[in-house]
Amino acid sequence: MAKKILLNNDASVPVIGLGTYKIGITDTDTYRAVRSALDVGYRHIDTATLYENEVPVGKAIRESGIPREEIFVTTKLWGTDILKDRIKEAFEGSLKNLGLDYLDLYLVHWPVKGKISSTWKAMEDIYIDGKVRTIGLSNHLIHHVEEVLKDATVTPAVNQMELHPYLVQQGVVDFCKDKGIVPEAWSPLGSSKIPLLQDKVLTRIADKYHKSSAQVVLRWNIQKGVVAIPKSSSKERQAENFNIFDFELSDEEIRQIDSLDRGHRTGVHPDYIEF
Ligand SMILES: NC(=O)c1ccc[n+]([C@@H]2O[C@H](COP(=O)([O-])OP(=O)(O)OC[C@H]3O[C@@H](n4cnc5c(N)ncnc54)[C@H](OP(=O)(O)O)[C@@H]3O)[C@@H](O)[C@H]2O)c1
Repeated sequence: MAKKILLNNDASVPVIGLGTYKIGITDTDTYRAVRSALDVGYRHIDTATLYENEVPVGKAIRESGIPREEIFVTTKLWGTDILKDRIKEAFEGSLKNLGLDYLDLYLVHWPVKGKISSTWKAMEDIYIDGKVRTIGLSNHLIHHVEEVLKDATVTPAVNQMELHPYLVQQGVVDFCKDKGIVPEAWSPLGSSKIPLLQDKVLTRIADKYHKSSAQVVLRWNIQKGVVAIPKSSSKERQAENFNIFDFELSDEEIRQIDSLDRGHRTGVHPDYIEF
């Protein structure tokens, strides 16, 4: 099982990344959590302007001693910056907060109604400027992606969406893959809002492999060609979530996990997000 997926412009993304939403209460907690993940072996860190933690996340990356080019860094453009027509300024602000001179991936965090195509044009301009290796989408449903692709000259590299066994999103995943867009799962463990990891189907499969339900869910993602960005503030759970490369789910087990789908969103439906 490859630990990276090739993106549509020859960059590649590690299949497991660290989610950082609410990873620390203080900047010091955030810094420590990102440093511990990098110590564990993570080379992919996901943040966003919204999380208000780009400063400690960037500091942890810079002070880790790991060469910059070995770490895949993602941040995201927030909707209010789209509405205020300050996309370029928002991008430069994120770079400054992170203390980095380039990003690996810049995402449109949520589609903003009426601005989908113009936002993507601004993202393409940022890409052409050369301070980001890839640009992509987040929370874009099929009809949003279609709107982006209508006038796009650069195909989005990634679409990051809520995705876990209770929200399989097979339609969006298949559509994205068909267009050369890599699907990425946020809240891959169902976040702290739903008791996904106690599901009997998952615990049964986990017992069989002497793994945890979290490891089974993450393995399910990567075997399906989906990148996952679990968040954990604990070094032990970060290590657990990263330790998924030594077992393989059968096709039947993948189907059993797929069949847990109940269309359950823990977050907002992308058609109804407001800023
Ligand atoms: N694009 C978007 O709109 C969007 C939206 C939401 C999230 N995201 C991104 O996706 C990332 C992940 O999503 P998330 O943070 O919502 O949820 P998640 O990663 O699905 O779940 C995090 C929760 O699971 C716990 N956990 C982690 N590993 C565990 C394990 N091995 N066993 C048991 N519990 C475990 C964590 O607690 P501990 O920390 O105590 O371990 C935390 O409560 C975010 O951090 C963020 O980077 C993006």
